[in-house]
Amino acid sequence: MKKQKTTLIGLLLVLSALCATCNAADGAKLYLANCATCHGAEGEGGKGLALNRQSFLVVASGVYLVKSMLYGRPTRGCPPRKDLSNDEFVSIASFIKGWQKEKSVTVPNNKVQPFASVRGKALFALCAGCHEADGAGAMGPSLVDPGFQTSASDGFLRGTIKLGRDGTPMSGFSKEAGHVVALSEEDIDEVVAYIRYLGKGKEKEIP
Ligand code: HEC
Ligand code: HEC
Repeated sequence: MKKQKTTLIGLLLVLSALCATCNAADGAKLYLANCATCHGAEGEGGKGLALNRQSFLVVASGVYLVKSMLYGRPTRGCPPRKDLSNDEFVSIASFIKGWQKEKSVTVPNNKVQPFASVRGKALFALCAGCHEADGAGAMGPSLVDPGFQTSASDGFLRGTIKLGRDGTPMSGFSKEAGHVVALSEEDIDEVVAYIRYLGKGKEKEIP
């Protein structure tokens, strides 16, 4: 655990140093060797989710991508990669971010407390059909996988709920995204608090 923390702090420093050493060409090679079998050579997805969707890339930070590689999705078949170096993580993340054509979206990133309010639970019924009542995933991905809970910021959750994912059944719960059910900012925060409640303590299950 201590080593993991050190690694993470190290790589966050690397990321914040604007990545002088990372190299998109290396990133492409590393991505093809380590990720493409499941995520597709061009990020189009397969056994794993597509990584080249604009609605994903505009809310997914480099830190989200690096953490997702480090912690994987142990309950869902995305292998944690403690064996890659910090430079390798950053190169792969930069390569993936290279697919982004649209401007990043800024979403409030304040943290909510994990909480099951009556409203939050009722609203999560809108999600349970695809993500399962306990959030463990069905046709939609797991929202309680320890790797996901640890990698996703509350801003990432808010942004994804608002925008949805283009080209998938996950339409955004906002007027802008044209969804029949538009959730207010407060509603979205109740849902985020409920997702954190469902995933509470899961980060301890990180292998
Ligand atoms: C053996 C298959 C497999 C490999 C190899 C793999 N992944 Fe995954 N990955 C998955 C699956 C499956 C999921 C979806 C988890 C879910 O459904 O909850 C996933 C999810 C992800 C996500 C979350 C995507 C999102 O929409 O939030 C990211 C980011 C990711 N993987 C990055 C990578 C990277 C980068 C590599 C290479 C270092 C990699 N993965 C290698 C199977 C894989
Ligand atoms: C009709 C099915 C469906 C419904 C309803 C739905 N989702 Fe999704 N959701 C999906 C699918 C499919 C994906 C993965 C899309 C992709 O391939 O990138 C997803 C992705 C997500 C992600 C990103 C997960 C990741 O690994 O990056 C979050 C967060 C999420 N949904 C939350 C919600 C919440 C909260 C609700 C209810 C307010 C909801 N979803 C309703 C199908 C659905």
